[in-house]
Amino acid sequence: MESSDGLIRVLGIETSCDETAASVVELRGDQAAEIRSSVVLSQIEEHAAFGGVVPEIAARAHVESLDGIVEAALEDAGMGLADVDAVAVTAGPGLVGGLIVGLMTAKAIAAAAGKPLLAINHLEGHALTARLTDGLAFPYLLLLVSGGHTQIVLVRGVGDYQRWATTIDDALGEAFDKTAKMLGLAYPGGPNVEKEAMRGDASRFAFPRPMKGSAQPDFSFSGLKTAVRQAAGAAAPLSDSDVADVCASFQEAVSDALADRVARSLARFREEFPDIAQPALVVAGGVAANRQIRAELEAQCSQQGFRFIAPPHELCTDNAAMIAWAGIERLRAGLGQDDAASFVPRSRWPLDEVSRPLVGFGRRGAKA
Ligand code: KG4
Ligand code: ZN
Repeated sequence: MESSDGLIRVLGIETSCDETAASVVELRGDQAAEIRSSVVLSQIEEHAAFGGVVPEIAARAHVESLDGIVEAALEDAGMGLADVDAVAVTAGPGLVGGLIVGLMTAKAIAAAAGKPLLAINHLEGHALTARLTDGLAFPYLLLLVSGGHTQIVLVRGVGDYQRWATTIDDALGEAFDKTAKMLGLAYPGGPNVEKEAMRGDASRFAFPRPMKGSAQPDFSFSGLKTAVRQAAGAAAPLSDSDVADVCASFQEAVSDALADRVARSLARFREEFPDIAQPALVVAGGVAANRQIRAELEAQCSQQGFRFIAPPHELCTDNAAMIAWAGIERLRAGLGQDDAASFVPRSRWPLDEVSRPLVGFGRRGAKA
């Protein structure tokens, strides 16, 4: 699977939600990895008017731009298709229209160029990113907090994942987006809620900390959302400072609840792997950009003797470098598929197919 010069180079393609992305990642003979290019086209503006991702619009936008994005990624990398060893594409979970566009394009490219195709789980891309950026060794814990997911996953090896916790209702990014919508803030809500929260009074509203203290390690955010709706209704019409206070109180509740839930899994990791001197928690997903949440998680990690690893923002949110990298990891581990050409997109595709299913499990639907 290696080029004659000892490199592995993979072209990655990502179209599972509202980013159209392509990237070339290279692994050198000395095992150093380099992102040769990473092009991400966000469709945020096309969906903003609707307050969330509209699947039809997303699929159409992927069709319109994917060819050009792939060309741009190859050009930025200074390569042609002949220079890559394989094509890796997100095959799920996600919005099926977008997945079809990506998978069909990747199949066509791979067939035309005579390259192997790798069908990648989007969540595996997030799970393995810290090995691309930080060369992290297995096992470690991953906290994935995005618009579609809130999960803690034990990453034991390539293709070897165990879900330790998940949301039993809304994803955390969804809670941010819905809170923003209730308050009349623009989509995507997370960054706007964070901005408002900076000038608000976090002690004004006593919002619940769902599941805090529970022995069950999972997350829940729908009760918090209801509390925000009630508080916003009671205080209507909302002044600018009311909005800021709701945001600050919401963010405080979320950070607090999240840190409590994460603490439980960190403790479990310690019990299961007592010999690992400096275990690590990796965060991924758009919500990981939130400064208060990061600070809270960092504090929790240092209290429990964990390294806190947050890949750069552009690699935490959706991108194709993580898909190309997952392809390289799979090739290197001898897990390249022979049947990828007949792979059909999977809108639901949990990383851990064994753990009991819950509502938020392996789902990655529209962000709204
Ligand atoms: O990972 P991502 O870009 O896309 C997927 O959902 O896969 O995550 C987007 C989510 C949105 O719900 C957005 O509101 C949230 O991440 N988000 C944030 C922040 N930036 C993005 N939430 C809280 N604070 C932020 N600064
Ligand atoms: Zn994602």
